[in-house]
Amino acid sequence: MLIIGGEGDLAFRKLYPALYHLDNDGNLPESMKIVGVARSKVEQDVFLQRVLDNLGLYVGGDGVDTTTWERFADRLHYSSADATSNQGMEELRNAFFAADDRDLIVYLATPPSIFAPICQTLHSVGLARSNTRIVVEKPLGDNRESFLEINHNLTSIFAEQQVYRIDHYLGKEAVQNLLALRFANTLFEPLWNYKFIDHVQITVAETVGVEGRWEFYDEAGALRDMVQNHLLQLLCLTAMEPPANLAADEVRDEKLKVLRSLKPIDSTNVKTHSVRGQYTAGAVDGNPVTGYCEEDGGKPGSDTETFVAIKAEIENWRWAGVPFYLRTGKRLPQRFSEIVIQFKQVPHFIFGEGGANNSPNCLVIRLQPDDSINLKLMNKVPGLDSSMPLQSVALDLSFSEAFADQRGANAYERLLFDVMNANPTLFMRADEVEAAWTWVDQIREGWRLAGKRVASYTAGSWGPSEAIALMAKDDRNWYDML
Ligand code: BG6
Repeated sequence: MLIIGGEGDLAFRKLYPALYHLDNDGNLPESMKIVGVARSKVEQDVFLQRVLDNLGLYVGGDGVDTTTWERFADRLHYSSADATSNQGMEELRNAFFAADDRDLIVYLATPPSIFAPICQTLHSVGLARSNTRIVVEKPLGDNRESFLEINHNLTSIFAEQQVYRIDHYLGKEAVQNLLALRFANTLFEPLWNYKFIDHVQITVAETVGVEGRWEFYDEAGALRDMVQNHLLQLLCLTAMEPPANLAADEVRDEKLKVLRSLKPIDSTNVKTHSVRGQYTAGAVDGNPVTGYCEEDGGKPGSDTETFVAIKAEIENWRWAGVPFYLRTGKRLPQRFSEIVIQFKQVPHFIFGEGGANNSPNCLVIRLQPDDSINLKLMNKVPGLDSSMPLQSVALDLSFSEAFADQRGANAYERLLFDVMNANPTLFMRADEVEAAWTWVDQIREGWRLAGKRVASYTAGSWGPSEAIALMAKDDRNWYDML
């Protein structure tokens, strides 16, 4: 494996720790080498020490195991080279990748602006082989057009099936479990449609701010940073038809159909269907925090959204008339991601007064911080009260309890493992990313044409009041506010 950008944040925080875990669990081929390349001149022992220090920070559990580390360190090499120059990359090829019958994974942990020259160089020095897999991740463009250009740069050198586009949400254990929940149980699928479901809510709430990357974030905003990828992927897995099997293209074809069925949100309905917010100074977890524009590197007057809520509609038979409310934001009161499936009321209610607390069934699939599934059912309150009082009680499944002796793999472990095994099911195909951009571009253009500016919200609150109104005007509420 060749990691270009091997001295960067992504490599240290996510890639080396994930590879270390794979090694620890015996999931790396014995003779596999991992070569980090970057322009900075760093000696091998200094590099290894940096990796080790970061493993200490990110592997969790019992910390770094000495035997595994020795094995892992033996595989790791650092090479200082400019990945856009033939000379440096030829030397690298001769030193590490001369045997062209071995699979090669190239991870581009670099900004997409240099994907094109890197791919050209890989091609010129003979590293773009038929057994090369190339891994990239967001931001893949900032609109449809720039995505297509980035994609063209990749696919003019590599075939589509060699390109692995990461959305790390797809590597999360609970997200994959969504497939199991829907398609390995008979219980839910017959109810999974407009006849029984009133609406769906998908929330990815964060307590963090922009984490020192104000300039990048200010160009992106929540819609492009989170909705275009993570939230739409969750929506697709929730809404798609059952695929024929788990083969990559079967799943991706179904997801694509969902994206293509999304009703456009444009200047005509953007005001009723979306909310943009930006946090001002407040407190999160009891600690005071600054407003978005006053963050490090921030500038006054920014109109970038750090919160977005959208009423999405899927125009197909299964979901006609069932809104999917999407919501994500920074500096919210709690960190969690969840999908709420709100079922309809029973068709005829026989419980008179006792049913004063009646609330329709609700399935809450929590993805993080802890994975759990929670199904709210109506029950009779024990006792002799002849009015037969009812109460909603939850059936709770906590994965950490149910699988207490199993360590859940983190998203990058899962995804790197799948790249090694040439399994692209959990990666995005180009047409999916393009369809997601098409929908998101329209919303952005709608905001521009309708002059929709950000509404402010206090850090530590659930976003601007408009977000509550978005659901309240449909006589609904966000689940955490019930
Ligand atoms: C990234 C976004 O893709 O996902 C970040 O760029 C965000 O802004 C992060 O904080 C959230 O990921 P997770 O796994 O912590 O929910």
